[in-house]
Amino acid sequence: MISNIILAGSGNVAYHLAKAFKKAGINIKQIFSRNHTSGKELALITDSIFTDSIDEVFANADAYIFAMNDEADKDIAKRLKVENNKILLHTAGSLSMEIFKQKTSNYGVFYPFQTFSKDIDLNFNKVPICIEASNLGTINELKELSKSICCKYYEVNEDQRKILHLSGVFASNFMNHCVYLGGKILEKEGLSTEMLKPLLQQSFDKILNNGAYMSQTGPARRNDLISIEKHLDFVKKDKNLYDIYKIFTESIYKTYHADGQ
Ligand SMILES: NC(=O)c1ccc[n+]([C@@H]2O[C@H](COP(=O)([O-])OP(=O)(O)OC[C@H]3O[C@@H](n4cnc5c(N)ncnc54)[C@H](OP(=O)(O)O)[C@@H]3O)[C@@H](O)[C@H]2O)c1
Repeated sequence: MISNIILAGSGNVAYHLAKAFKKAGINIKQIFSRNHTSGKELALITDSIFTDSIDEVFANADAYIFAMNDEADKDIAKRLKVENNKILLHTAGSLSMEIFKQKTSNYGVFYPFQTFSKDIDLNFNKVPICIEASNLGTINELKELSKSICCKYYEVNEDQRKILHLSGVFASNFMNHCVYLGGKILEKEGLSTEMLKPLLQQSFDKILNNGAYMSQTGPARRNDLISIEKHLDFVKKDKNLYDIYKIFTESIYKTYHADGQ
């Protein structure tokens, strides 16, 4: 059973996981982070010890969770010294768990398929955790770890995890960026971004209730060429907005009208 953990990184994911583990009674033994401000803050919140030195990371924790970025995870995995058979895990969507195979026979992935930001509280009931491990013993440990923080877990292999990550980039990251761009258009014209909120709320409700395909509205869905031309004319001075508008319009058009509907 994993009863103590060392976290590498002190960003969004490390912050939420560390708090959830502590709440579940799992000891956060140490926070390793290059960032003194966020690292010390997280160590304080979780009653753990901060270090920015890889040589000072304790070698005897039950599990080590890497929550940095792909390059840093690989680099720190190479340099970390741990006792035999300790569990090494990362939280990334598109990184192989094999980065740990030189260090231990017990390694894997603990990938939360959710969006994390420090300033937004998160209910771990709503976090599906994708787990993958080098052996049965470790996968069982990851199931128990997921249960301890009340997450639903899914055993997902590396290819499936990469596909989930890709899907999440479209469904969450790109959608978020579109909302940002929509807000910028309003701000530039002196209008309040608050006006977007009811539209966003209703759009999400519709997607969740009816699915995205059925929920689509707008000029491209209606094949309203006059509105599309007006919009393109309005954004033509901003190449980025112009290109994005055209790509999305073509994609929506092809989805609903390619067969001449
Ligand atoms: N955020 C999400 O919604 C989410 C969801 C699922 C999975 N993930 C995965 O979880 C991992 C962490 O994501 P995050 O959102 O928590 O990232 P983040 O908020 O940007 O935090 C990354 C952490 O890694 C540190 N770091 C970055 N480069 C480093 C380097 N070269 N050497 C040492 N430390 C380094 C950062 O330090 P500084 O503060 O000094 O930059 C920071 O502490 C990533 O693999 C990500 O793909 C994220």
